Amino acid sequence: MEVAETVSSVRGLVEAARRQGKTIGLVPTMGALHIGHVSLIEAAVQQTDFVVVSIFVNPTQFCPGEDLAKYPRPFDADCEICRKAGADVVFAPTADQMYPAENLTWVTVEKLTEPLCGQFRPGHFRGVTTVCAKLFNIVGPDVAFFGQKDAQQAIVIKRMVADLNMPLEIVICPTVREPDGLAVSSRNQYLNPEQRKDATYVYKSLQKCQEMIDAGVTDTQKILTEMRRVLQQVPSIEIEYVSIVDVGTLQDIDKIAGKILAAVAVNIGPARLIDNILVDSNR
Ligand code: PAJ
Repeated sequence: MEVAETVSSVRGLVEAARRQGKTIGLVPTMGALHIGHVSLIEAAVQQTDFVVVSIFVNPTQFCPGEDLAKYPRPFDADCEICRKAGADVVFAPTADQMYPAENLTWVTVEKLTEPLCGQFRPGHFRGVTTVCAKLFNIVGPDVAFFGQKDAQQAIVIKRMVADLNMPLEIVICPTVREPDGLAVSSRNQYLNPEQRKDATYVYKSLQKCQEMIDAGVTDTQKILTEMRRVLQQVPSIEIEYVSIVDVGTLQDIDKIAGKILAAVAVNIGPARLIDNILVDSNR
Protein backbone atom coordinates (compact mmCIF):
# COMPACT_ATOMS: atom_id res chain seq x y z
CA MET A 1 0.00 0.00 0.00
CA GLU A 2 1.27 3.47 -0.94
CA VAL A 3 0.80 6.69 0.98
CA ALA A 4 0.39 9.75 -1.25
CA GLU A 5 0.58 13.19 0.27
CA THR A 6 0.30 15.32 -2.84
CA VAL A 7 -2.27 15.73 -5.59
CA SER A 8 0.29 14.89 -8.28
CA SER A 9 1.47 11.70 -6.53
CA VAL A 10 -2.04 10.26 -6.07
CA ARG A 11 -2.87 11.16 -9.69
CA GLY A 12 0.25 9.32 -10.84
CA LEU A 13 -0.70 6.17 -8.92
CA VAL A 14 -4.28 6.22 -10.20
CA GLU A 15 -3.14 6.79 -13.80
CA ALA A 16 -0.83 3.77 -13.57
CA ALA A 17 -3.71 1.61 -12.30
CA ARG A 18 -5.98 2.89 -15.09
CA ARG A 19 -3.36 1.97 -17.70
CA GLN A 20 -3.59 -1.59 -16.36
CA GLY A 21 -7.34 -1.49 -17.03
CA LYS A 22 -8.31 -1.27 -13.37
CA THR A 23 -11.47 0.39 -12.07
CA ILE A 24 -10.93 2.94 -9.30
CA GLY A 25 -12.78 3.10 -5.97
CA LEU A 26 -12.59 6.04 -3.56
CA VAL A 27 -13.48 6.06 0.15
CA PRO A 28 -13.40 9.65 1.47
CA THR A 29 -12.76 9.88 5.23
CA MET A 30 -11.47 12.24 7.88
CA GLY A 31 -9.43 9.46 9.52
CA ALA A 32 -9.79 8.14 13.11
CA LEU A 33 -10.88 5.02 11.26
CA HIS A 34 -13.18 2.44 12.83
CA ILE A 35 -15.21 -0.58 11.71
CA GLY A 36 -17.74 1.71 9.99
CA HIS A 37 -15.01 3.06 7.70
CA VAL A 38 -13.61 -0.46 7.26
CA SER A 39 -16.98 -1.63 5.93
CA LEU A 40 -16.73 1.04 3.21
CA ILE A 41 -13.16 0.07 2.32
CA GLU A 42 -14.19 -3.60 2.14
CA ALA A 43 -17.12 -2.74 -0.14
CA ALA A 44 -14.71 -0.76 -2.34
CA VAL A 45 -12.25 -3.67 -2.46
CA GLN A 46 -15.09 -5.99 -3.51
CA GLN A 47 -16.56 -3.69 -6.13
CA THR A 48 -13.50 -2.01 -7.68
CA ASP A 49 -9.93 -3.04 -8.62
CA PHE A 50 -7.87 -0.20 -7.13
CA VAL A 51 -8.95 1.44 -3.87
CA VAL A 52 -7.94 4.90 -2.68
CA VAL A 53 -8.84 5.91 0.89
CA SER A 54 -8.56 9.65 1.47
CA ILE A 55 -7.78 10.84 4.98
CA PHE A 56 -8.28 14.57 5.33
CA VAL A 57 -9.76 16.50 8.24
CA ASN A 58 -11.48 19.06 6.06
CA PRO A 59 -11.40 22.48 7.76
CA THR A 60 -14.10 24.00 5.53
CA GLN A 61 -16.83 21.69 6.85
CA PHE A 62 -16.29 22.56 10.54
CA CYS A 63 -18.34 25.46 11.91
CA PRO A 64 -16.93 27.91 14.46
CA GLY A 65 -16.85 26.25 17.89
CA GLU A 66 -16.76 22.70 16.47
CA ASP A 67 -14.06 20.10 17.14
CA LEU A 68 -11.62 20.82 14.24
CA ALA A 69 -8.54 21.32 16.45
CA LYS A 70 -9.23 18.34 18.71
CA TYR A 71 -10.49 15.98 15.96
CA PRO A 72 -8.47 12.75 16.50
CA ARG A 73 -5.63 12.14 14.00
CA PRO A 74 -4.10 8.68 14.68
CA PHE A 75 -2.41 8.57 11.28
CA ASP A 76 -0.17 5.50 11.67
CA ALA A 77 -2.99 3.36 13.09
CA ASP A 78 -5.27 4.57 10.26
CA CYS A 79 -2.74 3.50 7.62
CA GLU A 80 -2.49 0.08 9.21
CA ILE A 81 -6.30 -0.28 9.15
CA CYS A 82 -6.36 0.69 5.46
CA ARG A 83 -3.58 -1.75 4.61
CA LYS A 84 -5.34 -4.62 6.44
CA ALA A 85 -8.65 -3.82 4.77
CA GLY A 86 -6.99 -4.11 1.35
CA ALA A 87 -6.66 -0.47 0.24
CA ASP A 88 -4.06 0.28 -2.46
CA VAL A 89 -3.42 3.94 -1.63
CA VAL A 90 -3.96 6.25 1.32
CA PHE A 91 -4.27 9.82 0.05
CA ALA A 92 -3.44 12.07 3.01
CA PRO A 93 -2.95 15.62 1.79
CA THR A 94 -2.06 18.56 4.03
CA ALA A 95 -4.52 21.44 4.26
CA ASP A 96 -2.12 23.44 2.05
CA GLN A 97 -2.27 20.74 -0.65
CA MET A 98 -6.06 20.79 -0.67
CA TYR A 99 -6.48 24.54 -0.22
CA PRO A 100 -3.24 26.17 -1.48
CA ALA A 101 -4.93 29.56 -1.76
CA GLU A 102 -8.00 31.18 -0.31
CA ASN A 103 -10.86 29.08 -1.69
CA LEU A 104 -13.10 31.17 -3.91
CA THR A 105 -14.99 28.38 -5.64
CA TRP A 106 -17.64 26.44 -3.75
CA VAL A 107 -20.11 23.73 -4.64
CA THR A 108 -23.47 24.27 -2.98
CA VAL A 109 -26.43 21.92 -3.11
CA GLU A 110 -29.59 23.89 -2.35
CA LYS A 111 -32.73 22.82 -0.46
CA LEU A 112 -31.48 19.38 0.63
CA THR A 113 -28.85 21.08 2.83
CA GLU A 114 -31.34 23.31 4.66
CA PRO A 115 -33.25 20.91 7.01
CA LEU A 116 -31.89 18.46 9.64
CA CYS A 117 -28.15 19.09 10.29
CA GLY A 118 -28.19 22.03 7.87
CA GLN A 119 -30.19 24.11 10.37
CA PHE A 120 -27.57 23.68 13.06
CA ARG A 121 -24.30 23.58 11.10
CA PRO A 122 -24.25 26.60 8.77
CA GLY A 123 -21.76 26.10 5.93
CA HIS A 124 -21.10 22.46 6.84
CA PHE A 125 -22.54 20.88 3.71
CA ARG A 126 -20.92 23.50 1.46
CA GLY A 127 -17.57 22.34 2.90
CA VAL A 128 -18.47 18.67 2.41
CA THR A 129 -19.65 19.04 -1.19
CA THR A 130 -16.69 21.23 -2.11
CA VAL A 131 -14.08 18.85 -0.68
CA CYS A 132 -15.81 15.81 -2.21
CA ALA A 133 -15.95 17.54 -5.62
CA LYS A 134 -12.22 18.27 -5.26
CA LEU A 135 -11.47 14.66 -4.23
CA PHE A 136 -13.50 13.34 -7.18
CA ASN A 137 -11.54 15.65 -9.54
CA ILE A 138 -8.19 14.69 -8.03
CA VAL A 139 -8.70 10.92 -7.87
CA GLY A 140 -11.17 10.40 -10.72
CA PRO A 141 -12.88 7.33 -9.22
CA ASP A 142 -15.44 5.16 -11.01
CA VAL A 143 -17.22 4.57 -7.71
CA ALA A 144 -17.12 6.45 -4.39
CA PHE A 145 -18.39 4.91 -1.16
CA PHE A 146 -20.32 6.70 1.60
CA GLY A 147 -22.09 5.55 4.78
CA GLN A 148 -25.82 5.63 5.51
CA LYS A 149 -24.78 6.80 9.01
CA ASP A 150 -24.55 10.31 7.53
CA ALA A 151 -27.79 10.03 5.58
CA GLN A 152 -28.17 13.68 4.66
CA GLN A 153 -24.53 13.85 3.50
CA ALA A 154 -25.04 10.78 1.28
CA ILE A 155 -28.22 12.22 -0.26
CA VAL A 156 -26.56 15.61 -0.85
CA ILE A 157 -23.49 14.03 -2.50
CA LYS A 158 -25.66 11.87 -4.76
CA ARG A 159 -27.56 14.97 -5.83
CA MET A 160 -24.36 16.93 -6.51
CA VAL A 161 -23.06 14.10 -8.72
CA ALA A 162 -26.36 13.90 -10.62
CA ASP A 163 -26.83 17.66 -11.02
CA LEU A 164 -23.23 18.27 -12.19
CA ASN A 165 -22.98 15.13 -14.40
CA MET A 166 -19.94 13.93 -12.48
CA PRO A 167 -18.79 10.68 -14.12
CA LEU A 168 -18.91 8.35 -11.14
CA GLU A 169 -21.31 6.17 -9.19
CA ILE A 170 -22.09 6.75 -5.50
CA VAL A 171 -22.60 3.64 -3.37
CA ILE A 172 -24.21 4.00 0.07
CA CYS A 173 -23.24 1.33 2.63
CA PRO A 174 -25.32 0.38 5.71
CA THR A 175 -24.64 1.88 9.14
CA VAL A 176 -22.31 -0.27 11.26
CA ARG A 177 -23.45 -0.45 14.90
CA GLU A 178 -21.98 -1.55 18.22
CA PRO A 179 -23.65 -4.67 19.70
CA ASP A 180 -25.92 -2.42 21.79
CA GLY A 181 -27.08 -0.53 18.70
CA LEU A 182 -25.01 2.65 19.01
CA ALA A 183 -23.85 3.74 15.56
CA VAL A 184 -20.05 3.54 15.43
CA SER A 185 -18.53 7.03 15.22
CA SER A 186 -15.16 8.70 15.81
CA ARG A 187 -17.01 11.03 18.15
CA ASN A 188 -18.05 8.18 20.50
CA GLN A 189 -14.54 8.32 21.97
CA TYR A 190 -15.36 11.73 23.48
CA LEU A 191 -17.93 9.99 25.78
CA ASN A 192 -17.17 8.86 29.34
CA PRO A 193 -18.53 5.41 30.36
CA GLU A 194 -21.76 6.90 31.76
CA GLN A 195 -22.39 9.00 28.65
CA ARG A 196 -21.53 6.01 26.45
CA LYS A 197 -24.40 4.08 28.12
CA ASP A 198 -26.74 7.05 27.71
CA ALA A 199 -25.87 7.20 24.01
CA THR A 200 -27.67 3.89 23.37
CA TYR A 201 -30.97 5.78 23.76
CA VAL A 202 -30.39 7.45 20.40
CA TYR A 203 -30.87 4.15 18.56
CA LYS A 204 -33.63 3.16 21.02
CA SER A 205 -35.59 6.24 19.90
CA LEU A 206 -35.21 5.15 16.27
CA GLN A 207 -36.30 1.61 17.14
CA LYS A 208 -39.41 3.11 18.77
CA CYS A 209 -40.17 4.81 15.44
CA GLN A 210 -39.70 1.54 13.54
CA GLU A 211 -41.98 -0.32 16.01
CA MET A 212 -44.74 2.26 15.73
CA ILE A 213 -44.64 2.24 11.92
CA ASP A 214 -44.66 -1.57 11.97
CA ALA A 215 -47.73 -1.38 14.23
CA GLY A 216 -49.48 0.77 11.62
CA VAL A 217 -49.19 4.22 13.23
CA THR A 218 -49.17 6.86 10.47
CA ASP A 219 -49.45 10.10 12.48
CA THR A 220 -45.90 11.47 12.42
CA GLN A 221 -46.44 13.81 15.39
CA LYS A 222 -47.47 10.84 17.56
CA ILE A 223 -44.31 8.98 16.61
CA LEU A 224 -42.07 12.02 17.16
CA THR A 225 -43.59 12.53 20.63
CA GLU A 226 -42.78 8.94 21.59
CA MET A 227 -39.26 9.18 20.15
CA ARG A 228 -38.62 12.35 22.17
CA ARG A 229 -40.02 10.62 25.26
CA VAL A 230 -37.41 7.86 24.89
CA LEU A 231 -34.60 10.44 24.68
CA GLN A 232 -35.97 12.57 27.51
CA GLN A 233 -35.59 9.63 29.94
CA VAL A 234 -31.89 10.45 29.94
CA PRO A 235 -30.97 13.77 31.58
CA SER A 236 -27.56 14.01 29.82
CA ILE A 237 -29.19 13.98 26.37
CA GLU A 238 -29.75 17.39 24.84
CA ILE A 239 -31.94 16.98 21.76
CA GLU A 240 -30.93 18.98 18.68
CA TYR A 241 -33.59 17.53 16.38
CA VAL A 242 -35.85 14.51 16.02
CA SER A 243 -37.33 14.41 12.52
CA ILE A 244 -39.26 12.20 10.15
CA VAL A 245 -38.79 13.31 6.57
CA ASP A 246 -39.38 12.24 3.00
CA VAL A 247 -36.19 10.55 1.70
CA GLY A 248 -36.38 12.38 -1.61
CA THR A 249 -36.87 15.95 -0.39
CA LEU A 250 -35.82 15.70 3.28
CA GLN A 251 -38.92 17.75 4.11
CA ASP A 252 -41.04 16.97 7.20
CA ILE A 253 -44.08 14.80 6.55
CA ASP A 254 -47.39 14.64 8.46
CA LYS A 255 -48.35 11.09 7.54
CA ILE A 256 -46.13 8.06 7.14
CA ALA A 257 -46.22 6.86 3.51
CA GLY A 258 -43.64 5.19 1.28
CA LYS A 259 -39.97 5.51 2.18
CA ILE A 260 -39.20 7.76 5.12
CA LEU A 261 -36.05 8.77 6.95
CA ALA A 262 -36.18 9.09 10.74
CA ALA A 263 -33.19 11.11 11.92
CA VAL A 264 -31.94 12.19 15.33
CA ALA A 265 -29.17 14.57 16.45
CA VAL A 266 -28.27 15.02 20.11
CA ASN A 267 -25.51 16.39 22.25
CA ILE A 268 -24.24 14.23 25.10
CA GLY A 269 -21.54 15.97 27.10
CA PRO A 270 -18.78 16.86 24.61
CA ALA A 271 -20.13 14.79 21.71
CA ARG A 272 -22.63 15.62 19.01
CA LEU A 273 -24.13 12.33 17.83
CA ILE A 274 -26.35 11.68 14.81
CA ASP A 275 -28.16 8.56 13.71
CA ASN A 276 -30.99 7.59 11.40
CA ILE A 277 -33.01 4.73 9.97
CA LEU A 278 -34.70 4.31 6.62
CA VAL A 279 -38.16 2.78 6.86
CA ASP A 280 -40.19 1.51 3.94
CA SER A 281 -43.72 1.75 5.34
CA ASN A 282 -45.14 -0.22 2.39
CA ARG A 283 -43.33 -3.36 3.40
P1 PAJ B 1 -16.04 10.63 8.26
O1 PAJ B 1 -16.88 11.12 9.38
O2 PAJ B 1 -14.64 10.19 8.53
O3 PAJ B 1 -16.81 9.48 7.56
C1 PAJ B 1 -16.30 8.90 6.38
C2 PAJ B 1 -17.37 7.96 5.81
O4 PAJ B 1 -17.59 6.90 6.73
C3 PAJ B 1 -18.72 8.67 5.59
O5 PAJ B 1 -19.26 8.27 4.33
C4 PAJ B 1 -19.54 8.15 6.75
O6 PAJ B 1 -20.94 8.12 6.48
C5 PAJ B 1 -18.98 6.74 6.91
N1 PAJ B 1 -19.28 6.20 8.25
C6 PAJ B 1 -18.99 6.76 9.45
N2 PAJ B 1 -19.48 6.00 10.46
C7 PAJ B 1 -20.08 4.94 9.88
C8 PAJ B 1 -20.78 3.79 10.37
N3 PAJ B 1 -20.96 3.59 11.67
N4 PAJ B 1 -21.28 2.91 9.47
C9 PAJ B 1 -21.13 3.10 8.13
N5 PAJ B 1 -20.47 4.16 7.61
C10 PAJ B 1 -19.95 5.05 8.46
O7 PAJ B 1 -18.11 11.93 6.54
C11 PAJ B 1 -16.98 12.38 6.52
O8 PAJ B 1 -15.91 11.79 7.15
C12 PAJ B 1 -16.63 13.67 5.77
O9 PAJ B 1 -17.74 14.51 5.76
C13 PAJ B 1 -16.14 13.41 4.31
C14 PAJ B 1 -17.23 12.75 3.45
C15 PAJ B 1 -14.88 12.56 4.32
C16 PAJ B 1 -15.81 14.78 3.64
O10 PAJ B 1 -14.82 15.44 4.35
